[in-house]
Amino acid sequence: MAELFIKQAEQYAAGRPTYPSELFEFIASKTPCKHLAWDVGTGSGQAARSLAGIYTNVIATDTSTTQLNFAPKLPNVRYRHTSPTMSAVELERNVAPQSSIDLVTIAQAIHWFDLPNFYQHVKWVLKKPHGIIAAWCYTVAEVNDSVDALFQPFYDIASAPYWDPVRELVDDKYRGIYFPFEPVEGADHTGPSQFTSKRLMNLDNYFTYIRSWSAYQTAREKGVELLSDAVIEEFKRAWIEDGQDQKVVKFPVYLRIGRVGNM
Ligand SMILES: C[S@@+](CC[C@H](N)C(=O)[O-])C[C@H]1O[C@@H](n2cnc3c(N)ncnc32)[C@H](O)[C@@H]1O
Repeated sequence: MAELFIKQAEQYAAGRPTYPSELFEFIASKTPCKHLAWDVGTGSGQAARSLAGIYTNVIATDTSTTQLNFAPKLPNVRYRHTSPTMSAVELERNVAPQSSIDLVTIAQAIHWFDLPNFYQHVKWVLKKPHGIIAAWCYTVAEVNDSVDALFQPFYDIASAPYWDPVRELVDDKYRGIYFPFEPVEGADHTGPSQFTSKRLMNLDNYFTYIRSWSAYQTAREKGVELLSDAVIEEFKRAWIEDGQDQKVVKFPVYLRIGRVGNM
């Protein structure tokens, strides 16, 4: 799977949304200490960059060194390449000692993980009982009626055969993802709670976002160009309809958040 992200790491860094400050403020409001955060599946550091403004130190790990090469270098972020199934020794060496982390975040990535194994690691490194895990995903871009009317069948039908089955967890807004944690203070469930990410995009940015999909890469490997000349023309026509080259594109973000407790 990591292969899928390696091949289009550059498009990924350029084409994906960053996350809204309200999301990080909400998550941080649930962690009593702000010493150490671990961003897992950090990719090109989309979440790590924001965490670095709130937490004293951030460890950002990914199984793809190519993705990590596009991440921003920041003085309080330590990037590490890890294997998908880390041993306890690797975890302690590459991430942190037992019960030392205030927050674990996973942005648009947990659906790829071996969850029972990953949650064992999370429970081991989080401070008890207040350590927090926050995992979120975003669904597809929302532009305007004309572009979205073209996009819907493009996503639901044309690209559908090329998505990995785990994508269903994202389409389901993480409602069905296994998440064995306690509700945070002030809540009676672990989510999903909705936020919105916004990004100013022109048509080229929009195509870069589509090219950053794992499904786009998989289709190409099978000899299918999802953004054929005809499809590009249709999107162009819909995009210029309102006369605005740049548009505010929305990505709905769905957050699961929980506290580790005493276990
Ligand atoms: C869709 S990208 C998300 C990147 C970034 N967090 C973001 O918000 O855009 C998923 C990332 O998870 C990484 N990944 C997949 N399986 C992983 C695992 N078991 N452990 C750590 N990272 C993993 C991939 O290499 C990829 O960079």
